[in-house]
Amino acid sequence: MMKAAITGVHGYVPDYVLTNAELERMVDTNDEWITSRTGIKERHILKGEGKGSSHMGAEAVRGLLAKTNNAPEEIDLLICATVTPDYVFPATANLICDMVGIRNVGSFDIQAACSGFLYALTVGTQFIESGKYKKVIVVGADKMSAITDYTDRTTCVLFGDGAGAVLLEAAEEGFGIIDSIIRSDGVGQYHLFQKAGGSRYPPSHETVEKRWHYVYQDGPSVFKFAVKNMADVSAEIMQRNGLEGDNVAWLVPHQANKRIIDATANRMGIGSDKVMLNIHKYGNTTAATIPLCLFDYESQLKKGDNLVLAAFGGGFTWGAVYVRWAY
Ligand code: UT7
Repeated sequence: MMKAAITGVHGYVPDYVLTNAELERMVDTNDEWITSRTGIKERHILKGEGKGSSHMGAEAVRGLLAKTNNAPEEIDLLICATVTPDYVFPATANLICDMVGIRNVGSFDIQAACSGFLYALTVGTQFIESGKYKKVIVVGADKMSAITDYTDRTTCVLFGDGAGAVLLEAAEEGFGIIDSIIRSDGVGQYHLFQKAGGSRYPPSHETVEKRWHYVYQDGPSVFKFAVKNMADVSAEIMQRNGLEGDNVAWLVPHQANKRIIDATANRMGIGSDKVMLNIHKYGNTTAATIPLCLFDYESQLKKGDNLVLAAFGGGFTWGAVYVRWAY
């Protein structure tokens, strides 16, 4: 069967850097706590009136088109994973296409919280495998600062803003996206969510006063599920593809907490030198963490490298994707 390959990657983070030192001046926290509990040192924040996730997604897509020598007219489909869409509707994917000049093709959003990029990658892959499309762009973009409560020390230290994008095309035999697992369980819905702003609790004075438009997270509950499920799903995709720690070149984990990443790597039998890590620079950028990792480590990747991408997030949602790097 024809497979899809990632044939290019690009990332974007906004200029403003929010350091642990600045957070110490905003809430009762300290660099030692944040660093030891999460691994985060700083995160980037998108400033500027009227700029949403599409702004960062468009920057990533523009860079991707330029470096892969593709004109906007050559793209057949664009999918954007985000939990912080510019609007409830239209989709952020529509806006990104408009900003970069991709016209008259399908574009839509996928919402699977921190697993969004793996979900969108899995969906995008199907259009290449079926032969329907030749060039599909998958974007992960989140402006988490838009839904972060900077008076809540349990969440405001965690999140950052950013975007990453990959191009999918038909793979050469033996390369590309070989396997994918996506899962969800609504048992997690109250542990990690933005309560208001959707149809269940539309915006009102009351929802604003109760701070229901911000991310709520019961950290320790999410932590327990994350450690178990990210490790389980990574082990499962390795096992069913005959992979062992030794022949995995890179673990590409969602960047929510360095301790969750370490636990996953441990379970997979992968040394820390083979784990992509940029949480110290960006924090948790939700749908953007995995493409931003691929972007930061792109120069170290070699054709034929076995990569295991893994994520866990709100929903709960989780998943793993096995990629044989194609360039
Ligand atoms: O990406 C989507 C999925 N999300 C995740 O995977 C996140 C999963 N959860 C986590 O990563 C961790 O649970 C957190 C990093 C959010 C929290 O770490 P923790 O080790 O679970 O800490 P905790 O919530 O149990 O809090 C420990 C203590 C508490 O104080 P007491 O009750 O022991 O006195 C908190 O109030 O740390 C306190 N605390 C803080 N102290 C300083 C909580 N936040 C902070 C803070 N600075 N920012």
